[in-house]
Amino acid sequence: MKVLLVNGSPHKQGNTFIALSEAAKMLNELGIETEIVHIGQKPMRGCIACNKCKENMDGRCVFNDDICNEISAKYAEADGFIFGSPVYYGQPNGALLSLMQRSFYSNGAAAAYKPAACVAVCRRGGATAAFQTMNIMLQMCNMPLVTSQYWNIAYGRAQGEAALDVEGMQTMRTMARNMAWMLKKFHNEETTDLPTKEEPWQPMHFIRPE
Ligand SMILES: Cc1cc2nc3c(=O)[nH]c(=O)nc-3n(C[C@H](O)[C@H](O)[C@H](O)COP(=O)(O)O)c2cc1C
Repeated sequence: MKVLLVNGSPHKQGNTFIALSEAAKMLNELGIETEIVHIGQKPMRGCIACNKCKENMDGRCVFNDDICNEISAKYAEADGFIFGSPVYYGQPNGALLSLMQRSFYSNGAAAAYKPAACVAVCRRGGATAAFQTMNIMLQMCNMPLVTSQYWNIAYGRAQGEAALDVEGMQTMRTMARNMAWMLKKFHNEETTDLPTKEEPWQPMHFIRPE
């Protein structure tokens, strides 16, 4: 089984990548294959509601000059999804939003009924709003949401800082365990009755009284 992870950040090795990689590592440990794809830094078009994808019914957006079709072509072979975004002004970044809107509109059928999760990474605030914005798209596309011990959020500003958010990283690992368990249940593979809970809680508060 395979999970496709989409990094919406323009930074290939940034904090969103760190959060996604933590989830991917745990999925791999549990026998699930992963592929991380990057939206990158090139322009991403927005949906222009031309409805050509509905007319053509070929699972493709009419625009071929960005990475949207290349990523959505991978939906059919994936069994689960994780969409990760940096928080920009309290929301997912524009490129990821456009990708999700266009790929689900044109090729949502290939993603339906497959477990999925979203991840938001921010410096300080707006992550829950961004997280919810991404989640409501999955909920309109018949994609069962994979939850965790907390919302799938990690904190960090400069490149690499998210790795220091120990609770955020643990949240990613828990989400990955839940996803692996759900995938195995969906595919009738042998697994435990409930997802394994192997780690003691690793809380990380940002204000520490002296
Ligand atoms: C245009 C822009 C807007 C941002 N808006 C927010 C914000 O609303 N809240 C926040 O906490 N961080 C905000 N940030 C910081 C990023 O979310 C943060 O640095 C994140 O770790 C970047 O992830 P990346 O390394 O994967 O790109 C913003 C950054 C940029 C470039």
